[in-house]
Amino acid sequence: MPHCLITLKKYGELIREELDRRDLLNGLFRIKAEETHLILPVNRELTKKELTSLSKIDSTIEQSFSDTLLPTKFTPKSHLDVLQEFFSEKEMELTPRSFDTIGDIVVIEVPEELADKKEIIGNALLTAHSSIKTVYAKAGKVDGINRIRPVEFLAGEKKTKTIYKEHGVRLVVDITQAYFSPRLSEEHSRIANRSKDNETIVDLFCGIGPFAIPIAKKVDAQIHAIDINPGAIALLKENITLNKLLGTITPHCGDCRKVVDEHNLENVADRIIMNLPGYAVDFVDVACKTLKKEGGIIHFFEFVGGENPEKTIVEDISREIEKNGRKIDSVLEVRKVRMSAPRQWQMVADVVVI
Ligand SMILES: C[S@@+](CC[C@H](N)C(=O)[O-])C[C@H]1O[C@@H](n2cnc3c(N)ncnc32)[C@H](O)[C@@H]1O
Repeated sequence: MPHCLITLKKYGELIREELDRRDLLNGLFRIKAEETHLILPVNRELTKKELTSLSKIDSTIEQSFSDTLLPTKFTPKSHLDVLQEFFSEKEMELTPRSFDTIGDIVVIEVPEELADKKEIIGNALLTAHSSIKTVYAKAGKVDGINRIRPVEFLAGEKKTKTIYKEHGVRLVVDITQAYFSPRLSEEHSRIANRSKDNETIVDLFCGIGPFAIPIAKKVDAQIHAIDINPGAIALLKENITLNKLLGTITPHCGDCRKVVDEHNLENVADRIIMNLPGYAVDFVDVACKTLKKEGGIIHFFEFVGGENPEKTIVEDISREIEKNGRKIDSVLEVRKVRMSAPRQWQMVADVVVI
């Protein structure tokens, strides 16, 4: 434990200069700031005479030991290492360990109890990770028809747009203009790997293109990408330009039900992507109409709770498909994508419909 001197903050700089002049500062440790005091590391126990002379600057000065001083060469591995210096044990327990990284932007969920410490957490993330340039806090749920999450700026560069990379694909994302989740990264790649050359694929709720772009990068397919949010379609167009694609993507802005009618997309699709969990069930009629009469595949995403979510999602889509005069020929795959709430999963079912 290094020897240290505890001095009032207002005399801190004078004491530091004096210790430096007498070559008494311990350069192996960092000076620590507390609310009213500074803790200055010294390289040996000071004599009574030395202390008396320093007390002429600060009469309250005390000599002690400290095990909380950080080494000068301290390189934090995470925001938690940085926060250790400022947060109580309780606050450390409440601090989130994980967060979403989208390019050089981080979005973190800060609990209510740490509301007044949000900026400190934001700055700790910037200190710990040089690749992070901007930090936002979640300020509500993914909401509205466009499925955008409200966010609050915490620290760093004030920007909302970034470039996100996954599986060799680059995506321009603007976290305030359109839905995007890095948590679906495995799904984007999985569906691209299932897609084949010469297929006609319709992504009914395409967002900025995280399914359409990887598919078109991998295979020579014709993809119709539909979204009701003009902000999402504008970003999709940027993403089409940004990536070298084998396939062709045709962006359509509008309600998928209207787009399918207006652009004669009936009976065209070999494969349909339906990633609008919570509402996709209301659009199964559109999918059935768009799918080729001889059959095709639907990738259906839904939030499902209960004991057997795998069974529930297949039952839900099956019921809707049968209402539309078609049926499931086989179930290719059913999987949990991510936990969406306590005891609730975002699930995906890949089904062959005839
Ligand atoms: C959960 S997001 C998924 C976006 C994208 N597939 C992804 O994985 O990032 C759902 C998207 O559906 C769009 N949307 C909602 N209702 C729609 C509708 N009736 N027709 C077309 N798009 C719709 C929203 O704007 C949003 O971008």
